[in-house]
Amino acid sequence: MAERETWTSRIGFIFAAVGSAVGLGNIWSFPFQTAANGGAAFLVVYLLAVFLIGFPTMMVEFVIGRRGESNPVAAFEKLGYGNWSFTGGLGVFSSLVTLSFYSVVGGWVLSYIAGSVTGGYFGDAGAYFGSVASGPVAIGAHLVFMAITIGIVASGVTDGIERATKVMIPAILVLLVGLAAWATTLEGATAGYEYYLSPDFGVIASNFGSIVPPAMGQAFFTLSLGFSVMIAYSSYLGRDDSLPADGGAIVVVNTLVALLAGFVVFPILFATGGAEGAGGGAGTAFIALAGAFGNLPAGGVIGFVFFAVLLFAALSSSISLLEVPVSYVTENYGVGRRTTALAMGAAIAVIGLPATFGTTWLDFYNDVVFNLLLPISVFLLAIFVGWVADREAIDELGRGSSIGSSFTTAWLWWVRIVVPTVVLMTLWLGLETLYE
Ligand code: PFF
Ligand code: NA
Repeated sequence: MAERETWTSRIGFIFAAVGSAVGLGNIWSFPFQTAANGGAAFLVVYLLAVFLIGFPTMMVEFVIGRRGESNPVAAFEKLGYGNWSFTGGLGVFSSLVTLSFYSVVGGWVLSYIAGSVTGGYFGDAGAYFGSVASGPVAIGAHLVFMAITIGIVASGVTDGIERATKVMIPAILVLLVGLAAWATTLEGATAGYEYYLSPDFGVIASNFGSIVPPAMGQAFFTLSLGFSVMIAYSSYLGRDDSLPADGGAIVVVNTLVALLAGFVVFPILFATGGAEGAGGGAGTAFIALAGAFGNLPAGGVIGFVFFAVLLFAALSSSISLLEVPVSYVTENYGVGRRTTALAMGAAIAVIGLPATFGTTWLDFYNDVVFNLLLPISVFLLAIFVGWVADREAIDELGRGSSIGSSFTTAWLWWVRIVVPTVVLMTLWLGLETLYE
């Protein structure tokens, strides 16, 4: 069997993991979820969810991945708990489903890049969305997006994923800072910042039940947790850097990108009307933003840059979603990487087709992943590392880092009690909204 690839450097791993984390979730969902859930009130709950629950959960996946040094299914066997491999398998399944609709939205982004050049969405933003989000255009763009994703993953962990993310992540950061700087010049920017940044704690208190599930779901999704992605990526470490330090860097950069996206989106929305109508389903964000670009001077250029950033973010995430099933099949069945990437990618493209017929299916896929698969997966991971895995596996957290054993013990108890409790609560509240 061919030797396993590893990241060429610590920075290579961090770029790849940041690439996975930073995606449509940060730049597209985050500002609009915030808008839909009362602005700054949502932001506060989301930040708590990211740092208090997301970060410890990322350490859970890192421990399993680096210690298991295999694909997310075999990792559990390597650790000596083969009867838990279904947990990794659940992540593989979630990755497949998520990529199938993520790619459809990636296809929309391609169409909006084209629309920025042709001026397609300048007249009637709603009609443009209708024309690219369903039917042949949606199918074609979805297939193109999947083809690019397949191409990168087929090239390998270092030559494909690491190389692509090393270009895309710096580009995202630079362009987003530029857009945020430009947004300060807009009339109405102040109102946007205010809506975004001044939390109304009364709103949090009275809407707790409806804010927590989307904030938690968003926190896991944005950090790519519960999909076995971070298990797969940390399995290519092959080195003893500090997991908490690397994870901390990834969480911080991911959060900065989301916050920065808010600094771009809110001034734009308030410059052209306000945040009303920006919440709601998958498409409203595209319509609201494109409508705004159509009304701003040099809106086509700004739109082009914005959607280019969105494309890089989407691609650096979609490759991580494809890597999960590909690593599983190549390692467990000994099929070559190129063949596997192509076959898996084609299957995923087909699974995504229903989502090209309108946003109902897309919202359905999205709800199932957010409210069901994600919390179940994170719950199982926390129970496994918290209560099942032996101390030797737990101590993987401290290998190569200067953290003391009391940090590891505190983390362990957090993962044993707090994470599963909060996740169960989220699952419960989320199912309530799903069946409402
Ligand atoms: N974190 C990505 C985003 O915020 O868009 C999406 C994602 C990628 C989710 C990879 C899950 C995953 F495994
Ligand atoms: Na993200």
